[in-house]
Amino acid sequence: MRKPVIAGNWKMYKTLSDSVDTALALKPLVANANHCEVIIAPVFTALKTVCDRLEGSNIKVAAQDCSTEKEEGAHTGEVAAFMLRDVGVRYVIVGHSERRQFYAETDEQVNRKVQAGLAAGLSVIMCVGETLAQREEGSAQDVVSRQLIGGLGGLTASDLDRIIVAYEPVWAIGTGRTATPEQAQEMHAFIRRVFADRHSQDAADALRILYGGSVKPDNIVGLMAQADIDGALVGGASLKADSFAQIVNYRV
Ligand code: 13P
Repeated sequence: MRKPVIAGNWKMYKTLSDSVDTALALKPLVANANHCEVIIAPVFTALKTVCDRLEGSNIKVAAQDCSTEKEEGAHTGEVAAFMLRDVGVRYVIVGHSERRQFYAETDEQVNRKVQAGLAAGLSVIMCVGETLAQREEGSAQDVVSRQLIGGLGGLTASDLDRIIVAYEPVWAIGTGRTATPEQAQEMHAFIRRVFADRHSQDAADALRILYGGSVKPDNIVGLMAQADIDGALVGGASLKADSFAQIVNYRV
């Protein structure tokens, strides 16, 4: 049985005090959500304080990125995965399409971030997803399988239980245009098959695959009803405690 994961990616929104306020407002609203793992991903500058303020709650904290470098060193502007772990972070999101698109991140870099996250003891949420042009030209599955295989290269069987994949079609992010539950299910089933071919059927059966892209309180139930959708990575609708709590408390 795969435990669902509902994660909120706050992207580059919220000051420290806004982050703390939202996290504290969320806490009582999701306190009874034992059916899923609840994760929020504030900006770097808010991570330590939010981790401290959520200690003992059922909300876990993710970073939105980490360095490709595992060790400390002369890498101006970077934050190492072990430094995130040091302040209480449990998860790291890597390979988000905004990083791939706007910061030219490659599958090879994503893979190094996955490895760095795992080495630091974090669980890794690795994002994959095609653009609209790629979907329209019929290459969505090729793109996603390349991202999956490239991003997850070199992992051992024991690493796999700390890997979560998020399928986020770029055309559905921040556009209000969600993939239909059927479109998402089709790609999630494909991702699970690719994972089974690369690793094992057992590992694929245990893999949590989240959907991301305009997830809202009014479409989460339809998405979660799909066999291969194990949760959501939520952007805009995670910025307000009440709408994110409604998504967390979806219960099909
Ligand atoms: P939206 O929910 O705002 O479409 O963002 C999705 C996303 O990119 C989450 O990582």
